Amino acid sequence: MEFLGSTALYNILRGPLVWVAFLVFIGGSSYKVYTLLYLAKKEKVIFPFISLKATLKSIFHWLIPFASRNWRLRPVMTTVTFLFHICLVFTPIFLLSHNILWRESWGITWWSLPENIADIMTMVVIFTCIFFFLRRIFAPEVRFVTFSSDYLILAISFLPFLTGFLAYHQWVLPHKAMVNLHILFGEVMLIAIPFTRLGHMFYFFLTRSWMGSNFVGLWHTRDW
Ligand code: HEM
Ligand code: HEM
Repeated sequence: MEFLGSTALYNILRGPLVWVAFLVFIGGSSYKVYTLLYLAKKEKVIFPFISLKATLKSIFHWLIPFASRNWRLRPVMTTVTFLFHICLVFTPIFLLSHNILWRESWGITWWSLPENIADIMTMVVIFTCIFFFLRRIFAPEVRFVTFSSDYLILAISFLPFLTGFLAYHQWVLPHKAMVNLHILFGEVMLIAIPFTRLGHMFYFFLTRSWMGSNFVGLWHTRDW
């Protein structure tokens, strides 16, 4: 416990490990997207069918809640998924505590969310993760297609929010220990993105491009 709350650990987590986390996240994700595009190019039957207009239309339709038929068919899941993703992506980027760190390290700042709103958005992520977890356990049609890796990526998404929330409120563990734990889980999440299905944050756009272009170009119909 003493080591967990130590300045020595904090210095490692805030120093070299931040570099490792961001370099692996950016470098690894770029490499993954590059290899996918490279493989697609080799296939010969993929790129000639890609249309920019169909790609943008498909992405736009799938990013708007309830705009696609598939979203409308599952209203509860759609609401939960959108709430989860919006809060998951925007909270860390516009969090005041994070912005202060960016300013300290690089001298850059941007708009921050009011702290109480950020706190609510954090709770949204925590509760929606619990919802996904229970759904995987109790809904038979989901349990049937659930693997341990599904729990793993859920835990990786959940833990930075849980520990960030507990650190902010100074609950459960001494503040320094919880902040260290939070930074560690935040870095684990960034590093895991290129190596796990969390990479869908990039692949989503490639999938929509392919599906959108095929549906419009080949089958003359819409993919939403
Ligand atoms: C890369 C390293 C990271 C560092 C150095 C870092 C640092 C911090 C610090 C210092 C706090 C404030 C704790 C307090 O108020 O006492 C915080 C809070 C928080 N962080 Fe991070 N963080 C990192 C990564 C992440 C990631 C990847 C996520 C989520 C994707 C995340 C989500 C949060 C959340 C949700 C809060 C608390 C919001 C609240 O309830 O007010 N952090 N972080
Ligand atoms: C920014 C672009 C992103 C897009 C477009 C996106 C899109 C999606 C979609 C379409 C699903 C399937 C939802 C469903 O079954 O109804 C999904 C699930 C999921 N996403 Fe994302 N995502 C993004 C970013 C992220 C990030 C950054 C993380 C975490 C690091 C994440 C974590 C998850 C998790 C854990 C699930 C599965 C939830 C479950 O257990 O069913 N996503 N995402």
